[in-house]
Amino acid sequence: MKELTNINILAIESSCDETAAAVVCNGREVLSNVISSQIALHTLYGGVVPEIASRKHIEKINQVIEEALSEAGMTLDDIDAIGVTYGPGLVGALLVGVAEAKAIAYAKKKPLVGVHHIEGHISANYIEHPDLEPPFICLVASGGHTHLVCVKDYGQYEILGRTRDDAAGEAFDKVARAIGLGYPGGPKIDKVSKEGNPEAISFPHAHMEDAPFDFSFSGVKSAVLNYINGCQMKGESYSQADIAASFQKAVVDVLVEHSMKAVEMYGMNRFAIAGGVASNSALRAAMVAACEKQGVKFYSPSPILCTDNAAMIGAAAYYEYLAGTRHGLDLNAVPNLKLGER
Ligand code: KG4
Ligand code: ZN
Repeated sequence: MKELTNINILAIESSCDETAAAVVCNGREVLSNVISSQIALHTLYGGVVPEIASRKHIEKINQVIEEALSEAGMTLDDIDAIGVTYGPGLVGALLVGVAEAKAIAYAKKKPLVGVHHIEGHISANYIEHPDLEPPFICLVASGGHTHLVCVKDYGQYEILGRTRDDAAGEAFDKVARAIGLGYPGGPKIDKVSKEGNPEAISFPHAHMEDAPFDFSFSGVKSAVLNYINGCQMKGESYSQADIAASFQKAVVDVLVEHSMKAVEMYGMNRFAIAGGVASNSALRAAMVAACEKQGVKFYSPSPILCTDNAAMIGAAAYYEYLAGTRHGLDLNAVPNLKLGER
């Protein structure tokens, strides 16, 4: 007989340009984690083209789910619930995952648990850190969001700060394009920065007087563009690696400063990072050092669990499932879903 304590969730993620499915047991044990990335396709256009993303999700989703089940050695009959990202994200992309999840839930009479994408990113930390439990502070930095969140309990979040303009990942992507690195910018800046001098150029660090935990990255992005224009007008050459490293340092400095301020102010002894930008090597190193200095335990998912994946959705769905969250077959994609909304 199946143990009552084992809850296997089939999770689906399709909010942007990754079609992903995973099977996660009890929120923390990943039995499979299949990701079909569309990066190569969108690289041609210098960024994600929503219409292409939706079409590709439709093409891939069944195959990705079949692979996730087969890698886990399971069929749909072994699954206890279906978890799916229903927002925020690209509406057409989200709809593919939501429709698929609803179809499976209906056909196999399984509970349906809609998950907030950011809750998924935060929950990626539970997978490899069995000792991590709320409360803790989490910095979520992705292509669409930069949030400093107090995770009060499973599924209970207080947003302490957010970006006023560009998300951190968006700034990485825009700066990469400006210095000729192309898409996706984050990993390319990360790599080329290793050959550059982070002290070469002093780019601005934005702080908001009235909101110490808010972020703004449009200023540093404009400063990079102005720097390049200035060099071009003077007929001077510039170092791509120095710009990348200096820009990266400016962003990392602010992310670390605000995060540590929050940890201190809220008296937390645990701090986690999440989201695509959390895979940045300079950010990870700086956070490790800052947490050590502040006597705070630092948590981060492996890079593959930082960028979009369905294992993190399975982790989040498990805690939502335990809390009694069940969605009906009228679940819709909500492109601007707020964290904590149900
Ligand atoms: O979390 P994610 O996969 O998707 C969203 O939910 O947005 O984040 C993607 C973002 C992109 O902007 C990408 O450039 C950035 O994360 N990113 C990185 C790195 N890897 C991905 N940024 C900095 N350094 C990296 N190594
Ligand atoms: Zn994401």
